[in-house]
Amino acid sequence: MSALKDVGDLTTDEAEAEIARLSAEIRKHDRAYYQEDAPRISDAAYDALRQRLEAIEARFPLLVRPDSPTRQVGAAPSGKFGEVRHARPMLSLGNAFNDDDVTDFAARVRRFLGLTETDEVRFTAEPKIDGLSASLRYEKGELVLGATRGDGETGENITANLKTLKDIPHRLDGDVPDVLEVRGEVYMSHAEFAALNERQRETGKPEYKNPRNAAAGSLRQIDPAITASRSLKFFAYAWGEVSAPLADTQFDAVQRLRQLGFTVNPEMIVTGEVAELLAAYRDIEQRRATLDYDIDGVVYKVDRLDYQERLGQVARAPRWAIAHKFPAERATTLLNNIEIQVGRTGALTPVAKLEPVTVGGVVVSNATLHNEDEIARKDIRIGDTVVIQRAGDVIPQIVEVILDLRPEGAPVFEPLETCPCPLQTPTAREFNERTGKMDAVRRCTGELACPFQKKEHLKHFSSRKAFDIEGLGEKQIEAFFEEGLIREPADIFTLAKRNESGEVQPPLQERDGWGETSVRNLFNAIEDRRSIGLARLLNALGIRHVGEGTARLLARAYTSWEAFKTAAMAASEDGEAREGLLGIDGVGETATDAIGRYFSEPHNLELVQRLEDQITIEDAEAVAADSPVAGKTVVFTGTLERVTRDEAKAKAQSLGAKVSGSVSAKTDILVAGPGAGSKLKKATELGVQTLTEDEWFDLIGG
Ligand code: IVH
Repeated sequence: MSALKDVGDLTTDEAEAEIARLSAEIRKHDRAYYQEDAPRISDAAYDALRQRLEAIEARFPLLVRPDSPTRQVGAAPSGKFGEVRHARPMLSLGNAFNDDDVTDFAARVRRFLGLTETDEVRFTAEPKIDGLSASLRYEKGELVLGATRGDGETGENITANLKTLKDIPHRLDGDVPDVLEVRGEVYMSHAEFAALNERQRETGKPEYKNPRNAAAGSLRQIDPAITASRSLKFFAYAWGEVSAPLADTQFDAVQRLRQLGFTVNPEMIVTGEVAELLAAYRDIEQRRATLDYDIDGVVYKVDRLDYQERLGQVARAPRWAIAHKFPAERATTLLNNIEIQVGRTGALTPVAKLEPVTVGGVVVSNATLHNEDEIARKDIRIGDTVVIQRAGDVIPQIVEVILDLRPEGAPVFEPLETCPCPLQTPTAREFNERTGKMDAVRRCTGELACPFQKKEHLKHFSSRKAFDIEGLGEKQIEAFFEEGLIREPADIFTLAKRNESGEVQPPLQERDGWGETSVRNLFNAIEDRRSIGLARLLNALGIRHVGEGTARLLARAYTSWEAFKTAAMAASEDGEAREGLLGIDGVGETATDAIGRYFSEPHNLELVQRLEDQITIEDAEAVAADSPVAGKTVVFTGTLERVTRDEAKAKAQSLGAKVSGSVSAKTDILVAGPGAGSKLKKATELGVQTLTEDEWFDLIGG
């Protein structure tokens, strides 16, 4: 066998072949390690494989597959366990990175609740455990289901494994609600982690990198006996569905969980002022090293549960809680190169190619550089020694350059004037009217003429959160695109026919890496997606500023593709259509403008039409379709006395209403508080139903 080539000398074809080979090897060893608990190679050999794969991927970022083992942290592939749909979603938390963020959080809470400076709001403060969240469902006191968080909506059924934890009671006695979902964190103590790695070493198995990975690996064992041998622990700190309230406050509810037999974190306290929250943070941070488990911050939660209820949630995180994170870990390394990646929206992103270095237990070889201003501001040059930091799963960043170690003559980084794509289209920074400044991001001006952008669009279109076409991953799109087999979304749906009719030569099933079965599977997967939910479609289109979350909001608000498209096509000219979009909580000016622009571009409309000809777009379910205000357009005016404007708006939207800022013929209900002026007048003239705040609450039953 010939010697391994230097990564720097690989051609693209060689790199692609090696990525495939290494990924398969690593996956095989992951299986042996995580599922069979029988590693076949040494820890060092395994690390060497990963490092080589990382190095190749770093040099050929376009070849990185979404399912690359480098993108997965030590976890076994899912699908081993059954799926569980959570009765209530398992939320994540917003982050605060400094004292100001915490002050803002407390102020936001007060503002939303309409409280003044002098009204008291109390918060709990407790450590943020660096483990894995789990949900335990008890029915009539019996543990019937234990699940991982998964994507928050759907997790994995790991009941048998969770039952092996000493902290998790199988039965709850006493005064227990009929349905009680207890949520909390599974973690591994430092003592157990050290002991486990000792055992791994003794038996020649690879060591775990950190307690969190060890807990994850241990929890996902197919054989619960292995989980049992790992002595995992569980802190209860939250709940999902409950048939009767646990208490009036967060603190008391957690104490109630303790009384029921759960272990709760002894560090939790209740405080008032922001200053006290920050004092609690510093106190816990100081004692961090003395705790027998890993924590990565402090979580603050509004104590009163009726307040929590009113505050509700934004996207996937509650408004009533926040995680105040500890500063990230840092390391020093060499900046080998700055590469430019072209994203779906044409943004040119400089990526730092680093000499691989371990930070917080993870090998890092790439760091984000954000944009050219950032490079200039920090005066980052190729050849520099740099300090990098990473926090949790966040992409590592360069914090500073060690100027004393700069090689002589290191040139200043020059922004690219042309796109690195074959067309070499000029790049530009746009003037942002809203901020009155130049955008920080440089973009390729080629839009969909730029093959890099087109290709990225297609990858996004087929990706998991969009059309989710199995077997049509980044690599396949890359190949089909290069060959011209798929140049736009509609082509995906005509591929089978073209292949059958002999237009595709050689036919897919006769190509390297394909066979009858894999081609059939691919075509079946495509066929399966010929019918698609509205939210997925909207996300898949890749309209700027319309990501998964906004797509979901739009789908819920308009429910049908026709209704959305009509509004979107009108949005660039018709003020009312614009208002309609802006009236959706979470959809701002930027997204509204981008939607208007997208749907006023003939090229896009044609592309969308060709796609529409191929697929069926299913209506989205409206939120609370049975509510008396579902689908109605509501305007609030005047002073509201029972709730704040934000709260009223959020509530109306959660009941499926559209909230608009101005009265028009399309308005169904005007809720007018004292001091209502021109809007009330206009509503009366137009014959719009007008309600007082009390009447509104009577109507919605609150
Ligand atoms: S409360 C609705 N409390 O952090 C709020 N979460 O970054 C639910 N976590 O998914 C979370 N310690 O896995 C809460 N004391 C704590 C926590 C905690 C760790 C995890 C949890 C969550 C993640 C969000």
